[in-house]
Amino acid sequence: MQRISLTSFIVVSALLAYPLPGNIAFAFHNGGVADCDGCHTMHNSSGNVPMTTGGRPTGAGYAYLLKGSDQSSTCLICHAGSSPTDSFKVATNPVPAPGNFPLQLPPGGDFAYLQKNYNWVTSTGTAQSSPGSNHGHNINAADFLYFSNGARWTTAPGGFYPTASLGCTSCHDPHGKYRILDAAGTTIATTGKPIGDSGSYGALPTSSVAVGSYRLLAGQYYKPASLQGNFGFVANPPVAVAPQSYNRSEAASDTRVAYGMGMSEWCGNCHASLQHNTINPATTVGNHPAGYNAKLTNVYTTYNAYIYTGNLTNTNPALGYSSLVPFEESISSLSSLAADTTSTAGASAVDNVNCLTCHRAHASAWDSCTRWNTAQGAYLTVAGSYPGLDAPTTQGQQGEYATGKTMAEYQQAMYDRPPTAFAANQWSLCNKCHEQDQHKQ
Ligand code: HEC
Ligand code: HEC
Ligand code: HEC
Ligand code: HEC
Ligand code: HEC
Ligand code: HEC
Repeated sequence: MQRISLTSFIVVSALLAYPLPGNIAFAFHNGGVADCDGCHTMHNSSGNVPMTTGGRPTGAGYAYLLKGSDQSSTCLICHAGSSPTDSFKVATNPVPAPGNFPLQLPPGGDFAYLQKNYNWVTSTGTAQSSPGSNHGHNINAADFLYFSNGARWTTAPGGFYPTASLGCTSCHDPHGKYRILDAAGTTIATTGKPIGDSGSYGALPTSSVAVGSYRLLAGQYYKPASLQGNFGFVANPPVAVAPQSYNRSEAASDTRVAYGMGMSEWCGNCHASLQHNTINPATTVGNHPAGYNAKLTNVYTTYNAYIYTGNLTNTNPALGYSSLVPFEESISSLSSLAADTTSTAGASAVDNVNCLTCHRAHASAWDSCTRWNTAQGAYLTVAGSYPGLDAPTTQGQQGEYATGKTMAEYQQAMYDRPPTAFAANQWSLCNKCHEQDQHKQ
């Protein structure tokens, strides 16, 4: 369980590894609005050459003078890539062929899973499938073959946000206006001190500069100018701090985003009625508690003791954490959160469940962008191996466990952890909190 600190090494190699198009500097958004010409072209040309991005006929400009044929395609010009675990890339492009896994491992997940279809037959002969469009937020990015999935949901489940208008800029403000004004992380606004740095890595606001909101996420009143209707956000961006190196294999150690406060409330901007902020509420049924008041009081000792199925022998809470089952700390101090990005400490009574305890923000290898296969009764390992079409045991090959993947694909979906990180026959990670409960999975 001992973790090696690779921080300084990783920071240096990450700096060297940023492959950037043209003459764009290493820091592009810098927590706020980036150079306009990173996303816009003023006269449908770039370097005096008519633009060809997306194969559109030259001369026909895109809406808002964007470089891609839509908002999200513009983002993916820089944020999609073909090298493994490539810094700020959040989509493998081109999408890997069947049998091959997406290459990026950032906390939000790799959008390429939205184009990965998995099919299988269960041990009782039932055909099942998990089409790509079930794997997360279907952004509209036509140049990269991502399309919205109105067949499954026409609006955000539990809310009204139209699926047809979902894109990167539904959640991230492309002009990065939201900023944190104080180190306590309590004042978020769109005006005031100028943004001096990204707010995602623990930089602190000073008397003269603010830092950007976590991941340029949008807040109160935001909706893209292109979206007509009453869809403005109610909640401000969550407070959280990520490590500098966040797109990496978790085979040797976890990538810990220190989620502070407000994530579930922020997801509630579009999924309002899925929020379930209290424990054992009398009125709402059907939603798992998530939010500031969904405290871990009754389960944190299990969380910390739990190593894997059947093994609750960890007695050192300083080693209790798992980034597969993250919680929120119910705090907003940016310096405390920054310190926690290098911690392996488990939970305490005041921490809370949040939507990202079980989901990834972008996409994952399973339905509803869950962090692991949450299907009832599914083993995550069988006889010491990951399940898979090529697993060594018949049970490991069974469709309900393998979910249409090879063992290698499965391991990548678990952020490259080896199967030995788990029990020989590992149950659902719901048990990180519930192994000692009656509602054990
Ligand atoms: C990270 C990409 C990005 C950068 C950098 C960027 N924009 Fe934009 N901009 C967009 C996108 C995407 C839209 C479309 C928004 C929508 O869907 O309504 C847009 C829309 C606009 C609009 C029209 C709608 C609105 O929101 O007011 C203006 C004006 C604009 N941008 C100006 C600028 C200027 C000026 C700069 C530089 C200071 C800039 N942009 C930098 C991505 C960017
Ligand atoms: C010209 C290339 C380019 C384009 C276009 C671009 N990005 Fe980025 N983006 C970067 C780079 C480089 C980084 C890492 C350095 C940084 O954060 O400034 C980054 C980082 C980010 C981050 C993390 C920033 C933080 O402070 O945590 C987010 C979120 C993001 N981009 C979203 C977007 C969205 C949404 C769009 C489209 C509206 C977009 N980007 C368009 C190059 C680009
Ligand atoms: C439904 C809202 C939503 C949409 C849509 C969305 N993002 Fe994000 N994004 C988030 C959240 C929330 C995080 C923080 C995830 C975390 O820390 O666990 C994030 C994180 C990121 C990061 C940092 C790396 C990471 O995975 O944590 C980048 C870069 C980024 N987003 C870019 C994009 C781009 C580009 C698009 C469109 C192709 C996009 N996002 C679409 C909500 C969204
Ligand atoms: C304890 C784990 C957990 C937490 C916390 C959680 N979810 Fe889920 N969620 C799931 C699982 C598992 C599914 C898969 C479908 C199912 O079994 O209901 C799901 C499904 C969904 C769906 C698909 C629609 C549906 O009804 O099936 C949405 C949307 C969703 N969750 C959003 C959220 C949001 C927003 C939050 C935070 C307010 C959240 N979830 C918190 C586990 C969780
Ligand atoms: C800007 C609005 C918006 C925000 C913010 C947002 N979502 Fe969604 N979400 C949607 C829409 C629209 C859909 C339905 C379209 C789709 O599934 O592609 C959706 C679908 C989902 C699904 C179901 C995916 C599936 O197909 O089963 C889950 C799970 C989910 N969201 C979780 C979250 C979580 C967790 C957050 C916060 C980190 C979040 N959402 C924030 C708009 C949003
Ligand atoms: C990070 C810890 C954590 C994880 C992981 C977790 N839960 Fe929970 N769960 C809680 C807390 C806290 C409660 C509130 C009840 C309590 O305090 O005992 C709860 C309550 C429940 C309840 C009772 C609901 C109610 O309204 O009383 C069920 C059922 C449940 N969880 C199922 C699941 C399932 C299924 C998963 C995995 C998809 C899961 N939990 C993952 C912390 C967690």
